[in-house]
Amino acid sequence: MALSQLSADAVELGRFRHYMQKEIFEQPDALANTLEMAGAAKSVQPGLFGADAEECLRRVDSVLILACGTSYHSGLVARYWLEAIAGIPCTVEIASEYRYRVSVPRAEQLVVAMSQSGETADTLAALRYARELGQNKTLAICNVPESAIVRESLLRFITRAGPEIGVASTKAFTTQLAALFLLTLVLAKLRGRLDAAQENGHLVALRHLPAAVQKVLALEPEIAEWAQGFAGKQHALFLGRGHHYPIALEGALKLKEISYIHAEAYPAGELKHGPLALVDKDMPVIAVAPNDALLEKLKSNLQEVRARGGELYVFADADSEVHAAPGLHVLRLPEHYGPLSPILHVVPLQLLAYHVALVKGTDVDKPRNLAKSVTVE
Ligand code: G6P
Repeated sequence: MALSQLSADAVELGRFRHYMQKEIFEQPDALANTLEMAGAAKSVQPGLFGADAEECLRRVDSVLILACGTSYHSGLVARYWLEAIAGIPCTVEIASEYRYRVSVPRAEQLVVAMSQSGETADTLAALRYARELGQNKTLAICNVPESAIVRESLLRFITRAGPEIGVASTKAFTTQLAALFLLTLVLAKLRGRLDAAQENGHLVALRHLPAAVQKVLALEPEIAEWAQGFAGKQHALFLGRGHHYPIALEGALKLKEISYIHAEAYPAGELKHGPLALVDKDMPVIAVAPNDALLEKLKSNLQEVRARGGELYVFADADSEVHAAPGLHVLRLPEHYGPLSPILHVVPLQLLAYHVALVKGTDVDKPRNLAKSVTVE
């Protein structure tokens, strides 16, 4: 969308220095607006994904998510949810790869085209290719209702993030995750994997998300302080495990995009298979470490980093039992959030990238060589 077509509210920076910062802070509202579509009911309805959704979703036997960039990372998080909660096999593929490879079509597979803009050339081409292969059960999850990807899909879910102007995607990502969680609940219910109490529990947690994100945003001053330590670095390593591994990927992407620091993300268990060789005092390591089933394993990975003199920055939560020490910085997110924890944990990584870019003085909203919507191959 051209800037001239946007409402005054969207263009007005108000108290913020950049659109990216404003959009990070708009996430509680963007999530609340997106979740409003599910209404106040105690159960989620397939109709959220379009009039014909129930008939279509009832029969799908697997899910294939196609996307690029940040949208690809939301798909990677959803894979954990779809398999664990809905018990449905899920693959996530980069659209530019899928569109050019010979794959085995599955007529009963739900093809999800994830795209903030709905116009990304590779995602649109991947969607068309899937249809050529006879994969007609298609769903667009998108922030722009009139976009090509929405028009060409059978089902749709329009996130209500509002216009996103900063090139680095933030609120579009978290609202995509909210949409994918709703999809997980709908599929879980249709497949008999969710009783009323579990469904209600998930819905209560979803509805509390905007307030929970608001509390995470209050960590901005501490994160801004951490950012000072990154500005002189050439490289950074992000670690996560389980459904926080894609959040580590997204944190690394944000840092690369706007601060031009080379950043990589690894599932922490892979550390010993290569990246550990890189760790020294010049390589800050950022770990996403909420108190979940994998925390103990992650802590031993963090020990390996400390033993090699790496400076560690850990995003824990209230009960993670990781304590600050020399070379080990810890920030605690106020709440532990179960399956929805990735939505909270990406927020401090967005803020970290933003503040590192501020310290470095880069063009935050329009990073060099990048475009908001990549409509050509
Ligand atoms: C560009 C943007 C990214 C975005 C990606 C996919 O690279 O800079 O922020 O994640 O395209 O865009 P989409 O609109 O399909 O989500």
